[in-house]
Amino acid sequence: MQRELLFKVLVIGDLGVGKTSIIKRYVHHIFSQHYRATIGVDFALKVLQWGHNIVIRLQLWDIAGQERYGNMTRVYYREAVGALVVFDITRASTFDAVLKWKDDLDSKVTLNHGRPIPAVLLANKADQATCQQPKLDAFCRENGFIGWFGTSAKDNTNIEEATRFLVEHILNNEESPLTEREPPSLVLSGYANATKQHLNCSSCSK
Ligand code: GTP
Ligand code: MG
Repeated sequence: MQRELLFKVLVIGDLGVGKTSIIKRYVHHIFSQHYRATIGVDFALKVLQWGHNIVIRLQLWDIAGQERYGNMTRVYYREAVGALVVFDITRASTFDAVLKWKDDLDSKVTLNHGRPIPAVLLANKADQATCQQPKLDAFCRENGFIGWFGTSAKDNTNIEEATRFLVEHILNNEESPLTEREPPSLVLSGYANATKQHLNCSSCSK
């Protein structure tokens, strides 16, 4: 029998780092150079066939970078079970903001027993520069990220890999609230075959 799980995943990070672009690439397989700031929050749904028996409905919450200065994040974060925290590798200020986003996240949403929700760091725009792997490995260990990936929404690098990594952690997390739903009626948009190499990616939990 098919089991269906609903996971709410947050996508956060400063203005213009590429959150919307990453989601559009992942869900709709498109990319645009044109920047149009998200207002408030946007949503997207990705349905994944996970093995033979599990269907995962990934509800992606695309939170506007400017919301860090607002007071709505507590509402947006509610019942999330995972997060992608994005920065732009060409703009140092967006890396500095990562910890502000992580602190905001951890102070406003936790799993049962107060454990932080799993968060993956995305070093986006990897088509424009290279990441400093040792630095990011240490940063993740020190700041409670489960891992990081160098991503590019433009070149479609590592987005499926990073999301799959997060979903694996959510699934392994016995304490995450798993919401069972009716059997799926949507057409599945499962992962493409994972033939791409894991560029610049690292699990900091090893
Ligand atoms: P807010 O909605 O304001 O919080 O921004 P955002 O994080 O959603 O950024 P968005 O996805 O709108 O992207 C901002 C700009 O960066 C756009 O011009 C995108 O085309 C560009 N961009 C996003 N991802 C990449 C990438 O991987 N590589 C390159 N070269 N440009 C990117
Ligand atoms: Mg946006």
